[in-house]
Amino acid sequence: MNKLSLEQAMQIAIDEAYKGFAFVSPNPRVGCVVLDHQGYLLSTGHHTRFGQPHAEVEALKGLSQEQLQGAHVIVTLEPCAHEGQTPSCAKMLAQMPLAQVTYGLIDPNPLVAGQGAEIIRRAGIQVNEYQGPLKNDLEEACEEFLWNFRHKKTFVALKVAQSLDGKIALKNGESQWITGPESRQRVHELRAQYDAVLVGKKTVLQDNPSLNVRHPAIQKENQVVVLDRSGDVLKNTSELNIFKTHSKDHIHILSSSNLSEALDELYNRGIRSVMVEGGGEIFASFLKENLVQRLHVFMAPVLIGQGMSWTEGFSIPSLEQKIQLKSIKTRPVGRDLHLTARI
Ligand SMILES: NC(=O)c1ccc[n+]([C@@H]2O[C@H](COP(=O)([O-])OP(=O)(O)OC[C@H]3O[C@@H](n4cnc5c(N)ncnc54)[C@H](OP(=O)(O)O)[C@@H]3O)[C@@H](O)[C@H]2O)c1
Repeated sequence: MNKLSLEQAMQIAIDEAYKGFAFVSPNPRVGCVVLDHQGYLLSTGHHTRFGQPHAEVEALKGLSQEQLQGAHVIVTLEPCAHEGQTPSCAKMLAQMPLAQVTYGLIDPNPLVAGQGAEIIRRAGIQVNEYQGPLKNDLEEACEEFLWNFRHKKTFVALKVAQSLDGKIALKNGESQWITGPESRQRVHELRAQYDAVLVGKKTVLQDNPSLNVRHPAIQKENQVVVLDRSGDVLKNTSELNIFKTHSKDHIHILSSSNLSEALDELYNRGIRSVMVEGGGEIFASFLKENLVQRLHVFMAPVLIGQGMSWTEGFSIPSLEQKIQLKSIKTRPVGRDLHLTARI
């Protein structure tokens, strides 16, 4: 194993953070790497589940004082200063014979920002906030948490499964299996990552989807939100699959006409992130009201011609007002392409 540069170690810490994707909410995803005094990898760790030990504790677990002599701890978020459900990570690190701690992002809470770093610094350990090319990836690794914290709002991701010609359904409503099995598996991971799946009434009534997490490696009951101003979904509870696959307290039927208010209601119910899965009317409403933070588009290499476009109900008066995606990433999933970006 070679010596690791700071960038390489921070990249490993970011990859570690994502391993906690399904169970850490409302906490941030955090990853940690420990390098020995010469820069060789000693261990890695991540925050696995809300209420469980933080990434630093997981990474340091099992390492001896001797191994930690002069070591460098690299963590994606500033070590916590306060005692919450778990003891303060900053105090724990301060007791170790470390040479250096580098953290990716400062704690967004102004009441604690910098305090974790200060506790470690006072113990004579060199502490630095990472400043480098991975800063944006660090923000993305805990973007729902940062959004919640900065805006006191639920984070909204929009997920679309579309043909190459931008359609999510045929005119006759047929829409299932546009994308391939690999994309669908990835969608189940995303369902586990976000607190809830959100859909419009017509998607529930026409497609009768389950909207649960079906993934061989993830056991999780997610939450479902249905926007239904006329109460039609509740008239069909015995036939609809969402009621068969979710317990009552995991289903939220909202009747508010105002999307922003609906999101506030979800925030108050403890839902800190939603993945909007359709249909067309709902996608358009979220776009029109500028309520989307992240886009996931699964693009299948198929052409289906006339059909329902996912932006059908959305328009702009001039190209100057086009929605410009930021921080775009694409990767192949089976025959499809997964494009994800910030809005
Ligand atoms: N490929 C994909 O990614 C994908 C995903 C999902 C669905 N689909 C397809 O999309 C089709 C359904 O889409 P759709 O556009 O007809 O219906 P939809 O978006 O699923 O539901 C629209 C309904 O939601 C209710 N609603 C509540 N609040 C709303 C708001 N703020 N804005 C808009 N609607 C609101 C409205 O009914 P009330 O007025 O009664 O409240 C509205 O008629 C189906 O064919 C489905 O198969 C495709």
